[in-house]
Amino acid sequence: MSADLDPGVDPYAGIATLGAAPLWRYLGGLFRSEPKSRAVAALWRYDELRPYLLHFAETLSIADAERRVLMLVNPGLADPPATVNTLYAGVQIILPGETAQAHRHTSNAFRFVIEGDGAYTTVNGERVHMRPGDLLLTPGWHWHDHYHEGDGPMMWLDGLDFPLVNALEAGFFELYGDRSQKPSVPDDISARQFTHGRLNPAWDMERGVNSPVGNYPWTETERAFDAVADAAEGSAIDGILFEYTNPWTGGPVMPTVSCRIQRLRPGFSGAAHRHTASTILHVVRGEGTTIVDGQRLQWRDNDVFAVPGWATYQHINGSASRDAVLFAYTDKPAIAALGMYREELMERQD
Ligand SMILES: [Fe+2]
Ligand SMILES: [Fe+2]
Repeated sequence: MSADLDPGVDPYAGIATLGAAPLWRYLGGLFRSEPKSRAVAALWRYDELRPYLLHFAETLSIADAERRVLMLVNPGLADPPATVNTLYAGVQIILPGETAQAHRHTSNAFRFVIEGDGAYTTVNGERVHMRPGDLLLTPGWHWHDHYHEGDGPMMWLDGLDFPLVNALEAGFFELYGDRSQKPSVPDDISARQFTHGRLNPAWDMERGVNSPVGNYPWTETERAFDAVADAAEGSAIDGILFEYTNPWTGGPVMPTVSCRIQRLRPGFSGAAHRHTASTILHVVRGEGTTIVDGQRLQWRDNDVFAVPGWATYQHINGSASRDAVLFAYTDKPAIAALGMYREELMERQD
C-alpha cells in the first residue's frame, strides 16, 4: 500500500481542501459525556424592561415595528438570538387602536398575558380575547393578528420555538393578504367548546397535532389552584404543578412545547433536579429564588428567567406568607419524541 502523497503537503491541510476533517481531533466536542448548553442561567427583570417597552410604544409605530417586541436574549445565544437552546421569549406591547398585521409561520407560538385588557388575537378566523394570566395558542401555520380595542397599553409574553424550527431548517413564513382576518366563527368558541379535556365535543371536528383550544383563561387556572388548595402535596420539585393539555390527547398543547403553571406554597423549598429539556419561566406573582447550577436567580412579579437544559435547579418561595405562581414552558415534548429525554434528582444546592 502506498499513499503516494506529495511529501511537501501537510496531510491535514490537504484533507481540508477536500472538505474532509479528522474525526479523531473532534471526538471530545462531538460526543460529550453529558450535555453542556451554550445557554446560561439568566433573568430579565420586568420592572427594568417596562419603561423601555413604554418608550418604544410612544416612539415607534406598530406599522414600522410590525411586532413591537423586546427579545429576551440569552448571553450564551446572541447570534442567532434565543432565550434557551430551542425556545424564545419576548415581551410585546400593543396600544389601544393598534393592529399587528396577520401572518403565519411554522413556528409554534403562544402568548401569556402580563398586563392590560381589551386586546384580542384572531387565530384562523377565531377572535380570542386576552386577559392577564390567560394562555393563548397560535400553533404552527395558523394565521394570527392582534388588535387592541381596550384602554391603556397591553403587554404579554411571547413564547416561540423558532430556534428549534430554524435549527431543523423547517421555517416558513407568510403574510396574510389583508392586514387583519375577518372573524369566521363566533368569538372565543374553542375555549367554550372544550372544558379542558373533561367534556369534549363528540361531533366531527378536525383533529390536528395541536390543542384546538385558543385560550386557557386565568379564571380557570385560578379555579384549579383553588380547588386543590393545600389538599395535595404536589411535586417535591415543582409544588402544585399543572400542565395545560391538548384535550384530544391529554398531552402537551403543541408538539414542541409543554406549557405549565405551578404554585409554590409559602415557604416552599423544592428538591433539585436536572433534565435534558430547557425551560423558560415567568413569574405570575410572588417572589423567590431559583438556584441554577449554584447561581441564585432572585425573581419577583412578572420577571422571566431561563434554565438551560441539564442545569441542576431548585425553586424556593422566598415568602413565608404569600404563595408564588410560575408559568413555565419547556421543549420536553420535542426531546421526548426523539427518545432523548433524561431527568434525574440531584443534591440540593443550598
Ligand atoms: Fe407570529
Ligand atoms: Fe424541571
